[in-house]
Amino acid sequence: MSNFLDSADWSFPVPIHYGPGRLNELGELCKVNGINRPLLVTDIGSKNLPFIKQTQNVLNSASLKCNLFSGISPNPLDTEIQIGKAIFEDGNHDAIIAIGGGSGMDGGKAISLIANNKFSLWDFDNDKAEVKDIKKFPHLICIPTTSGTGAETESTAMVTHSDLGMKLCVWHPNQKPNAALLDPKLTLDLPDNLTAWTGVDALVHAVESYTIDSLYSVADGMAIQALTLIGRYLKKTVKSPHDLEARGGMLLGSCLAGISFKKGLGLVHAISHMVGAIYDSQHGLTNAILLPPVLRFNEERIRNKSKMMNFVTFSKPEGYHSFYNNICNLLDELEINKGLGSLGVTSNKTEELAIKASRDAAAKTNPRKASVSQLKTLILESLENAR
Ligand SMILES: [Fe+2]
Repeated sequence: MSNFLDSADWSFPVPIHYGPGRLNELGELCKVNGINRPLLVTDIGSKNLPFIKQTQNVLNSASLKCNLFSGISPNPLDTEIQIGKAIFEDGNHDAIIAIGGGSGMDGGKAISLIANNKFSLWDFDNDKAEVKDIKKFPHLICIPTTSGTGAETESTAMVTHSDLGMKLCVWHPNQKPNAALLDPKLTLDLPDNLTAWTGVDALVHAVESYTIDSLYSVADGMAIQALTLIGRYLKKTVKSPHDLEARGGMLLGSCLAGISFKKGLGLVHAISHMVGAIYDSQHGLTNAILLPPVLRFNEERIRNKSKMMNFVTFSKPEGYHSFYNNICNLLDELEINKGLGSLGVTSNKTEELAIKASRDAAAKTNPRKASVSQLKTLILESLENAR
């Protein structure tokens, strides 16, 4: 339980502009923020999707000169971020518009961290004093096109370190997006499988942040409202992809879940980051497979919060076991794979994955501490039939 005799420091995110069709306001939003030459950054998968052309048209009609960098992989690589930085500098850009799913936005955000300074990307993964002093970063606008990552209100980005084969989180407290633009119309054409996988990512964000045992009431409130919206709309968006109201509910649910995980995440993400770095697996799908075994591992420590999560997500009044079963049923209905083996993970990699996951920041906030050997057992359990 939270201890109200503790002290705590919270911050609240950036201006959020929500509404169907509001991509059309991007030019105005740029002008209000003093942006003249934005670099549009997206992922390889989004490069040819209609929303990129639409965004370019909106910027062109506002007489804003923009270039496009679309070389970001599903699990962004440090080498791609360097290429993006060079394009930013060569084009004399003054802002980054990060658009796409988690990878497109993470790519744009990571480029924005190093675009205007001499530091290496990995300097933003630690606590160097000179990095702390940076005051000026390029303007940044984030536009999510999936309802999952929820990372549009922060500068945090997960990037794969090519030499270490690990996904690391880079960020800087002074690099906040100037705005997040949430237009549910951009999510209408997302395929069913990606709608399900990214939606479960949002669900996991809310569950993992809510179950962390620390005093962070702002995040807890966001997580509960996120679970309410995700419980109501996730299945609907898969079954009726063109239901704009459902798409809107999920986009807001994922944004709130994203804000909630300022509190931290847990073992689902710690393991998933490393599986993604080694196997280039889809982040939301990897999380979805890992959620049941991690819930079982955490049972003792999350029992007191399960009743509330079950109530808001599934409208059921019972506690942990009912919540766990409802999660498994939901994953079945969404046709989520049963084990990490389906992503190519093999038992001879469990030791390496366990060691790397134990070093991930998300492992440190999990409600139950896990040793490397416990992590190894958990990963082994998740290989074939995780639920
Ligand atoms: Fe995630």
